[in-house]
Amino acid sequence: DEPPFDSGAVLAWGIPRLRELPWRAERDPWRILVAEVMLQQTQAERVIPKWLAFLDAYPTPSVCADASVGDLLRLWQGLGYPRRARNLHRTAQQVVEEHDGRLPDDLDDLLALPGIGPYTARAVLAFAFERDVAVVDTNIARILARSTGERLTPKRAQAAADALVPAGDGWIWNQVLMDLGAMVCRPTPSCGDCPISAECAWQQAGKPSPDPAVGSA
Ligand code: ADE
Repeated sequence: DEPPFDSGAVLAWGIPRLRELPWRAERDPWRILVAEVMLQQTQAERVIPKWLAFLDAYPTPSVCADASVGDLLRLWQGLGYPRRARNLHRTAQQVVEEHDGRLPDDLDDLLALPGIGPYTARAVLAFAFERDVAVVDTNIARILARSTGERLTPKRAQAAADALVPAGDGWIWNQVLMDLGAMVCRPTPSCGDCPISAECAWQQAGKPSPDPAVGSA
């Protein structure tokens, strides 16, 4: 698919506005993975103290693999969805058994780990290994649907996102797109603050109902 907008304008908008979040200062794949898993159903402000405490207790997959699941679940309290903690524990054990205790930098190897789906696997590749892959979370899917003016299947959203990643800038690109979705292209958008409103098909059409982002993953 043709890219729906020019990524240069988005980078120029986003780089000076990049939100400071503690995991953005990190490249350690385990620390990135734990952040991404926690952020899936929990807001960033609530994640920060839990992420710090979890990594204090389990700084590596190996330490985590040796812990009891009960201890993990106690540290997980307040985050909800405890299945995420059980999967993280199983992932740590599998990483020790199959990958010498280090998270793999390969998409298929990451997808084979418990609880790691297309979003999380690519988030580890982009944010820890700085690979030029596109992550598509709910916020980014919303930007893609609105800018193309179409409801996109997950497969087409991933293809549209892949076409946008500027070579060599995958890390910053994905972070900026997340911030655009979190701060401007929200469920109720602030199109006046958007760097690509002139290229956004939905905005240009007068934001007709239904919002093409509704129902997109
Ligand atoms: N949500 C999930 N991953 C994130 C990240 N890297 N930065 C900000 N919010 C996020």
